[in-house]
Amino acid sequence: MTFQNMPGQPHIAYRGNELFSEEIRLSDLAKEHGTPLFVYSKGAMLSALGAYERGFSGRNVQICYAMKANPALGVIQVFAEAGCGFDIVSGGDMDRVLAAGGHADKIIFSGVGKTRAEMRRALAAGIGCFNVESEAELEVLSDVALSMGLRAPVSIRVNPNVDPQTHPYISTGLKGSKFGVAHERVLPTYQRAAQLAGVRVVGIDCHIGSQITQDGPYLDAVDRMLDLVEAIEAVGVPLHHIDFGGGLGINYNGDTPPPADLLWGKLLAKLDARGFGQRQLMIEPGRSLVGNAGVCLTEVLYLKPGAQKNFCIIDAAMNDLPRPAMYQAFHQIMPLKPRADAPDTYDVVGPVCESGDWIGHERDLAVQPGDLLAVLSAGAYCMSMASNYNSRGRAAEILVEGSQVHLIRQRETIADQMHGESLVGRKRAG
Ligand code: LLP
Repeated sequence: MTFQNMPGQPHIAYRGNELFSEEIRLSDLAKEHGTPLFVYSKGAMLSALGAYERGFSGRNVQICYAMKANPALGVIQVFAEAGCGFDIVSGGDMDRVLAAGGHADKIIFSGVGKTRAEMRRALAAGIGCFNVESEAELEVLSDVALSMGLRAPVSIRVNPNVDPQTHPYISTGLKGSKFGVAHERVLPTYQRAAQLAGVRVVGIDCHIGSQITQDGPYLDAVDRMLDLVEAIEAVGVPLHHIDFGGGLGINYNGDTPPPADLLWGKLLAKLDARGFGQRQLMIEPGRSLVGNAGVCLTEVLYLKPGAQKNFCIIDAAMNDLPRPAMYQAFHQIMPLKPRADAPDTYDVVGPVCESGDWIGHERDLAVQPGDLLAVLSAGAYCMSMASNYNSRGRAAEILVEGSQVHLIRQRETIADQMHGESLVGRKRAG
């Protein structure tokens, strides 16, 4: 019996000739719930969170799970029960957190385009902090809060102009990015915030990008942030907390991001050296808490030999797993029951009518129609970006906890998809 851990995926392992997540044989789940099927390991999420907690032990920190990575209620619940706060980017995100048992005062609200209605609802709920992303937003937020007789707790999101050395679509802290307030405008923005009757300055915030695999960009950002904190406090605006955002990468394909505890050890040493070690800290990790806790199970529908390429056509597609099409991202693809046959090289593609609908290029696989595959590292930014393109229902989601299986989202039906639609002038059939 072999028991081989997948790189970066501590909860996934072959036992004998079968792939397991925690104590659950994945092929059993596929048989019972169908495919495509997302399976998340609660143990893997908690162990990823544990690395952050170890790194921050003895410090004053609030970990706010960036729920855009995976907003399933059952996933939010895991982090809420573990004491996390949440980084949200819409009113809908807030509703999900509250529905899953999260506390409003541990919510921070990021995003460049908050509407007045979202601000009103978040103020009424009593969220912990608005991460304000522009001077214009600051004025509107102050007006909205005043109209409710409240003061909005704010932190200004700084664009520190640091290159996170990741895919351009997920770099957010560079000068040309739409995110945050430009470094040189930060001080005047805080001075303005201090004058506004509808806001109360509570902190400062930055987020430089996602899937960051080196510590250098973080160390640069910390220095730039601390310089700003000193400058802002020197003009008489005290900052209660410093929020360093999220962005730590995961191992998709031999990537070697620093483990969260080691990274934070280094960053905290820098904070200590500059006298900020006991300050209230916030962080907003998403991918590094859930990415490698999830897999997407899929069935091989057809093998299609071609003149130039062989295609392995699976029942998951870009609507379920959008990252390869959007960012040329790599996800490992493993058989649930490996065959002893010699592998062939395939492009693994889905049924969607787009040439961009690929999940893996040039993969060596020994497969036959009907075989089941697992697409790894599918816990973050897969279901959260899934769509109904080609009228495909979104997949079901399972949370595994030891030998227990919890169905946390049912497969979306066509009735779910057509809900709210109507024909003009007559009733719909069926
Ligand atoms: N905080 C803010 C303000 C963010 O914009 C993000 C992610 C996070 C925290 C969490 O970052 P993480 O720890 O997950 O890297 N869809 C892309 C990733 C987009 C990230 C957007 N912002 C992907 O699939 O790679």
